[in-house]
Amino acid sequence: MCGIIGKIGLGAPRFVISGLKTLEYRGYDSSGIAVALGDAVFVQKGVGTIDRVVYSVPNGVAAIGHTRWATHGGVTDFNAHPHLDCSGQYAVVHNGIIENHGELRGELVRRGHVFSSETDSEVIVHLFEEGVQKYGDGVEALRYVLSRIRGQYAFAILSRDGRVYVARKGAPLLVAKGKDGVYVSSDPVPLVGVADEVYRLADGSYAVLSPDGVQIFGEYVPVPRVDARRVELGSHRHYMEKEIFEQPRAVKDTLDYLRRENVRWELDGRIHLVAAGTSYHAALYGEYLLRKRGYDAQAFIASEYEYWKGKEPDYVIAISQSGETEDVLSILRNLDGPEVYAITNTPGSTIEEYSDHVVYTRAGPEVGVAATKTYTTQLTVLAHLFSDANLSELPGFVGDVLESSAPIARTYAKVLSRKNSAYFLGRGLDVVTAKEGALKLKEIAYIHAEAYPAGESKHGPIALIESGFPVFFTASKNMLSEIEGNVQEMRARGAEIVMVTDGETELADVLFSVPNVDTELFPILSVPPWQLIAYYTAVERGVNPDRPRNLAKSVTVK
Ligand code: G6P
Repeated sequence: MCGIIGKIGLGAPRFVISGLKTLEYRGYDSSGIAVALGDAVFVQKGVGTIDRVVYSVPNGVAAIGHTRWATHGGVTDFNAHPHLDCSGQYAVVHNGIIENHGELRGELVRRGHVFSSETDSEVIVHLFEEGVQKYGDGVEALRYVLSRIRGQYAFAILSRDGRVYVARKGAPLLVAKGKDGVYVSSDPVPLVGVADEVYRLADGSYAVLSPDGVQIFGEYVPVPRVDARRVELGSHRHYMEKEIFEQPRAVKDTLDYLRRENVRWELDGRIHLVAAGTSYHAALYGEYLLRKRGYDAQAFIASEYEYWKGKEPDYVIAISQSGETEDVLSILRNLDGPEVYAITNTPGSTIEEYSDHVVYTRAGPEVGVAATKTYTTQLTVLAHLFSDANLSELPGFVGDVLESSAPIARTYAKVLSRKNSAYFLGRGLDVVTAKEGALKLKEIAYIHAEAYPAGESKHGPIALIESGFPVFFTASKNMLSEIEGNVQEMRARGAEIVMVTDGETELADVLFSVPNVDTELFPILSVPPWQLIAYYTAVERGVNPDRPRNLAKSVTVK
């Protein structure tokens, strides 16, 4: 999703270019940079990767940059940010949506402003230009902009004199100080290793960055520092590989934290779990554990919540690794009544603002677009909270699974890379892993994959089965007898059977054996083989698993 980065200080353009590259992981289709030159603002922008778009940039005391994931206005050079005002003295980069942009654009055009893009964002910089003319002051001009725009936004306006005016409402924005300058960023990762103090602006706050420092108007909270080693690729080829293999450490750190802080939730009433993407699969896992214990719990895909929620719950559990997913935040923003519990991997993220209680996964920053270690640590938190199983051996077991599965997955990826479609099947709790396995394969290796409860597969999906069609079964030991019939039905029609189990079986053509664990913990051990298969298949197909097309790491629009 869109990213914002900016610096005032030594080597500002250079920092912004490297910051843009760091932000690449969030997903983008266009990019651009603006540099303050004293008498004007220089802008270079366009469709494509940062290396292609930003190729010769003058030096200057301040610069801002943007990665765009198109929403309003097509993917064109003109629509890429930054956008200039009519005088060429100010440039804006913006994430989010200005809801009343149509009306404002009409007004501004009538007053003589000339627009050069179709974006909603461009109104901000023309309003700012008017504000300066009206009030003769940048902060007043910023207040004028804020009084006119409606919607969700995080933006930064660079002035030719090297000041940067920033504001946020509903989209993330951080300001920071380091020994070489001051910074603005939509994401904590580009600030790792450069900033000493990082602050998240509260919703509705704004700030002015200048060579003298950062002046914040409104509330803000300090964001904990991230250890720079956590975002280094090391000897791995891709972040996804690194993050899959980090899972034993991530699960262990999460367990240590949960025990140290003695994290417990006392819930008794109707519970709704809300989340998107992979985190939704964690929500399903939470629903299963809670229902098993007699709670009235239900998991919802966040973007569907308002249509399906029914009677108001007593508690909402929101799960989001980034803590910035708009589909989730928009639910929390509009809640009035239920107590909100959040599970996130990102201290200082917006979800904290809307939650009464927050528990963290200690996975460390996840750079690969596909969620891997954040998922297994979300399951770890939920198991700690709602299962009676003994979790102490989990980190070691996850390590064992990775070690034994990697060679099998790497070999099988050569076969799978030539297929077009696959099913992931399971029963009961194993359906959750099936769903996550299918999502990984689809998003990373671009192979059409669907997950079904195994029993349901004969009510339609089986029509596609022909010789060599891959069917991935997730089967905890007590489900092996339950799925045997489904396996045979598939096999009889020529399907290739790949299976993850912690039991003994002869049912599979390709078998991933994992340590025998409590059934409720099996989802934490059964998912790594599917992550590895998706990863190695992507590599086999020549696809960069860290930057899958059209996807964004954190989706900050509805
Ligand atoms: C995007 C990502 C997914 C992620 C989902 C939810 O779609 O590509 O990998 O699972 O957002 O993200 P969250 O940060 O809320 O867990």
